[in-house]
Parts: sequence; structure tokens; C-alpha cells
Amino acid sequence: MSFIEYGDTIKDGDTAIVFLGHESMFPMKVQHGSVTQTKYGVIRHSTDLIGKKYGSKVTCSKGGWVFILHPTPELWTVNLPHRTQILYSTDISVITMMLELKPGSIVCESGTGSGSLSHALIRTVAPTGHLYTVEFHQQRAEKAREEFREHGVEHLVTVTNQDVCQSGFGVSGVADAVFLDIPSPWEAIGHAKAALKAEGGRICSFSPCIEQVQRTCLAMEEHGFTEINTLEILLRVYNVRTISLQIPDLGKASEDNSSFGSDSSNPSSQGSPGNNPQQGTVQFKSAVPLREMVGHTGYLTFATKS
Ligand SMILES: C[S@@+](CC[C@H](N)C(=O)[O-])C[C@H]1O[C@@H](n2cnc3c(N)ncnc32)[C@H](O)[C@@H]1O
Repeated sequence: MSFIEYGDTIKDGDTAIVFLGHESMFPMKVQHGSVTQTKYGVIRHSTDLIGKKYGSKVTCSKGGWVFILHPTPELWTVNLPHRTQILYSTDISVITMMLELKPGSIVCESGTGSGSLSHALIRTVAPTGHLYTVEFHQQRAEKAREEFREHGVEHLVTVTNQDVCQSGFGVSGVADAVFLDIPSPWEAIGHAKAALKAEGGRICSFSPCIEQVQRTCLAMEEHGFTEINTLEILLRVYNVRTISLQIPDLGKASEDNSSFGSDSSNPSSQGSPGNNPQQGTVQFKSAVPLREMVGHTGYLTFATKS
């Protein structure tokens, strides 16, 4: 298993995702002799997991079952242990596209935080690219290194423990793209420019507040960046539901109106005896937006060094 290459079978040392149901998942380190408790009972790693195929339905000790999924950056993002606020896949997908990342790209990032974005960046630039990620919080930097090792991607990433605003990214003139998710990105724009290739590249800065965006845009302009562009991405998720609506009783007059009625050819129309459309209910499938929508995460400011 590695986060950049699919492995068919579950092996000792893998990080797997235990899928219990919709929006109920957790990550699990597979270890010979280990057991994992779930609400459906125990999973015994040696007998229930190791050697089985990813995607298998595994029966737990109480008879319930779970699916064991191969990890991906997207699954890791919704299952990782939070050490900081993280970026989610909606923002990440636009960042990856707008930074024009592809296999072979060299990317600089700060801060590493919980490594949510880092995993996606690594997967995108693999197998020949590289991520230089800078984190000034020592424990976070160490934990990120440990996770990259466990996830089989350590050869694609260098974690540097320093202040990016003071000391930069530890490389110069090599990056195709730079990404910033720090409280004062305007202080790192000069270092970002130095890290980018002489022939140019792309930059993105993520900030929750518009005042941060204003200062960052000014700094980008001062350092000669062009195509400065700020946007926000909002995601709306829908559930598919069967809706039941009572057919209203409109009185006798409308009973005689032959142009009104439920679609008798529709097998989902129910409870309409004979041709009387005014009794019973009509059922149909509909897509309903979730009651709660993810709101503002942050502004994404993109620019080009040309
Ligand atoms: C919001 S988190 C980044 C989350 C990350 N994008 C993710 O998806 O997991 C911000 C991180 O930047 C680090 N940081 C803040 N200022 C920094 C600086 N000047 N130099 C390096 N790291 C910094 C913080 O310690 C924190 O871990």
C-alpha cells in the first residue's frame, strides 16, 4: 500500500480505512496480532485483514460487517487526526488545477499543518515531482514526516522545520508552484518568488479573512506577480430522497377537469383508485440539498510569476 500506488491486498503496516457506513469511517494501522474495536465487534488484523483484498467486506465478531478501503488523499482528508485546521477536497481540487500541477511538478508549501493538502499535492506530482513543505511547529513537522514514511511517500517530500516568513522554503529557483496556508502570507511572498523557477510559475495563498487577502494581494503586486485573482469555492451536496406528496382535495369541480391528474403511466403514482387523481399520494425521487451547507472556508488568491 502507498498513497500514490494501488496495492491489491492488505499488508502488515498498511494504513487502511474502515468504512462502517455513510459518513462513518476511521483510519486504521494494520498490524500483525492487533485488534480493532468497532460498534459491530472486533476486527482481528492477522486473520480478518492481512492477505485479504482491499474493498473486502469483513465480518466483525458481533456479526456486523465493515468494508476495508485502500487509502487515498481524499479519504485521508476526511479521516486524518487533526493537529490544525485543514483544507478539504473542494478547495484542494481547485488549488491543484489552478496551480497547474502535474506529474513531475516541483511544489513548495507552508505550513504543513496536518498534511491534508500535502498528501494531495504529493499524489499529483508523483512519481517524478517533489514537495518541499515548511512547518515551524516542531511536533507537527515531525508527525508529518512520520505519516509520509508510513504512507510510502517519503521519497517525494521534504519537510523543513523553520519559519517560512524568516527563512523561506529551503530551496530557490526550482519550484513550479508555491502554496501558502499561514496567518501572514504577505510576509512570505518574497520567499515564494525566490523559490519559484526563474522562468516563472504559479502561487496560491489561502486565507480565511479578507484583510489577509488585501495585504497578500498588495505584496504580490509589489513583488511583480501578475494575473492576481481571488476566488472562493462553495460546495453544495445533495441527498437523493423519495418524496411523498398528498394530492390536494380541490373539490368536485376539479374532479371533472380531465386535464388535471397524476401521471397514470407513472408506476410511482400511488393510491389513486380509478381515474380520480384527488385521493392518495404521489411519490417521486428528488435531489434535496443537505440542510446544513459547508460555509466559508477561505479565499484562494492565485497569481503568476512570469
Ligand atoms: C492551517 S494549518 C495548515 C493546514 C494544511 N494546509 C492542511 O491542509 O493540513 C497552518 C500551519 O502553518 C504553520 N505556520 C504558521 N505560520 C508559519 C510560518 N511562518 N512558517 C511555517 N509554518 C507556519 C502552523 O504551525 C500550522 O501548522
